[in-house]
Amino acid sequence: MTENPTWTPAGIDITVPSVARVYDFLLGGAHNFESDRALAGKIEQSMPGVRDVVRLNRSFLRRAVLFMIESGVRQFLDIGSGIPTVGNVHEIAQQADPECRVVYVDKEPVAVRHSTALLAGDDRAVAIQADVCSPREVLGDPAVLSMLDFDRPVGLLNLLLWHFIPDEADPQGLLAAYRNALAPGSFLAITHTTYDSEPDELQEAVHEVRQRSRQQAFPRSYREITALFDGYQLVEPGVVGCAAWRPGGPGDISEDPAANVRLYAGVGRKP
Ligand SMILES: C[S@@+](CC[C@H](N)C(=O)[O-])C[C@H]1O[C@@H](n2cnc3c(N)ncnc32)[C@H](O)[C@@H]1O
Repeated sequence: MTENPTWTPAGIDITVPSVARVYDFLLGGAHNFESDRALAGKIEQSMPGVRDVVRLNRSFLRRAVLFMIESGVRQFLDIGSGIPTVGNVHEIAQQADPECRVVYVDKEPVAVRHSTALLAGDDRAVAIQADVCSPREVLGDPAVLSMLDFDRPVGLLNLLLWHFIPDEADPQGLLAAYRNALAPGSFLAITHTTYDSEPDELQEAVHEVRQRSRQQAFPRSYREITALFDGYQLVEPGVVGCAAWRPGGPGDISEDPAANVRLYAGVGRKP
């Protein structure tokens, strides 16, 4: 190992970048390795505005959580939650109402390790390691079952997640399994990369990610991303460029027009 291993779970190969740690680096976090930073550099070469894009994604996360709280939700299931950074779901939610409960789910060990450390002392938030493609495992996890009451509305957060799941894994079928477990009045929030705007830049970035991290990425079209909300009623303004989803202030919009539409974002309500 070439770097401080104290926060590194055993058994991870730090020479292979992980999307969670690359994302952490792009957000200005410290839980990443040289391999992650090298890949982030390549992505920035292909997509110079990428730091703005990930910042806008976090701004959307905040707006979506607060919108759900205003709508009566007090419990959240954040799948593909990533390495904790500023403005984590439990911080946003519990600031609004200390009773809010949050479960973080990620398949990346570093993300889960750091989430668990951050949540020590908070008995209303927990992190588990699991794959979104195993809904039975996620929904049946003892920590999930003890933290969340599935007879009441849940805010399901899937930000920058589904573009890692290929069509062959049946994202719509997986989403249906989660939806079926949720009470009416629950919400789903999604952000997702798309080739609909400036596809060449993104194509290059996706290629770099695949080559270096062995992680495939599958940007989708407006139509395909809208279809992920099957069974939900989209709340206004529907599926839109991330910055156009109920922006609350200048920080929610980039001066770079391309960054504003690089991701699609939407929130749906289960009737
Ligand atoms: C780009 S980060 C997004 C983090 C956070 N949702 C956000 O938007 O700020 C994507 C996260 O999804 C996780 N992820 C990717 N594939 C996953 C899977 N199949 N199951 C669970 N998590 C996954 C990665 O480990 C990473 O932490």
